[in-house]
Amino acid sequence: MNEIVVSGVRPTGKLHLGNYFGAVVNFVKMQNEYPNCYFFVADYHSLTTHPNPIDLSSNVRLTLIEYLACGLDPNKCTLYAQSDVPQIAELYLVFNMLAYLGELEKVPTFKDKVRSQPDNVNAGLLTYPVLMAVDILIHHAQKVPVGKDQMQHIEMTRNFANRFNHLYKVDYFKEPHGFHYGGEPVSVPSLDGQGKMSKSKGENTCIYLSDEEDVIRKKVMKATTDSGPTEPNQPKNEAIQNIFELMNLVSKPETIAHFNDTYNNCTIRYGDMKKQIAEDMVAFIAPIRENIRQYEADKDLLKRIMQDGGEKARISASKTIREVREIIGLKF
Ligand code: TYM
Repeated sequence: MNEIVVSGVRPTGKLHLGNYFGAVVNFVKMQNEYPNCYFFVADYHSLTTHPNPIDLSSNVRLTLIEYLACGLDPNKCTLYAQSDVPQIAELYLVFNMLAYLGELEKVPTFKDKVRSQPDNVNAGLLTYPVLMAVDILIHHAQKVPVGKDQMQHIEMTRNFANRFNHLYKVDYFKEPHGFHYGGEPVSVPSLDGQGKMSKSKGENTCIYLSDEEDVIRKKVMKATTDSGPTEPNQPKNEAIQNIFELMNLVSKPETIAHFNDTYNNCTIRYGDMKKQIAEDMVAFIAPIRENIRQYEADKDLLKRIMQDGGEKARISASKTIREVREIIGLKF
């Protein structure tokens, strides 16, 4: 398959099951099917929250380690830090001239930030979708494996690509689309029974790929449930639906069927169900956590992978910048 694939994750310190099942599991499969995959650590993006410099650099390293621990192979895909590709910053400048204040202000993720961090509504937050579009378009990607929460950003990327083509009367940028192996993008639920798993909702609402076994058990046992169904075949409320969705990610089909049956005939014991989910998550995460430990020890390997990946990404990005400069008339 010849389509180009691009995606990234912000370096927040450690990946959770939402990042894994929403995005990274697809990266791992895609690297075997698509010869041109670019997977990066979105460190420019994380500057919107003004991270401490020491934390930022160690989080970029940790994210790369977790990519490798999940199975990304630098011989099959290009792995790099976004900030190692300065051409992204140049294209971002160009695309900022094509993005309108009105459309950026309407983006739900921007509106959420305005509500949640009123003291830090910086211009980078407003133009976050522009930078994300550039990450994708700089390599001419057509497939972008992301979770459900990023789909609107991909739609905006298509708009910016088409706007560029229209303004400069070219057919240069292709339309990218979100991608997930099951067909539909997924949203992994939070352990608190509400909405998606997200680090911003608190440590105890997420299961991380680096969590120790006991931590996983403790967090899962605290997951929100209710007092149980009172009538057969009752519809599930959000918290119960979420618990079943978490089970769907890690448990065997017969286990899931068993707990569905006990829910439907009102004999379910959520304590047993959570114990089962916890054990299945422990088993699922154990090999990844072990890989994380091994990669952490090999500093030279990480450096080499980032250098090689950065170089490959810059070759692709430089070509785009040369062509864009030509198209828009920055040629003398
Ligand atoms: P970020 O760092 O918030 O999340 C990384 C990836 O994980 C997915 N994800 C989830 N999927 C399902 N359920 C969840 N609970 C969940 N939580 C997170 C996200 O959808 C994402 O795919 N802006 C992006 C990073 C980025 C990017 C890009 C992605 C920057 N440039 C270009 C793709 C292409 C972000 O903040 O993702």
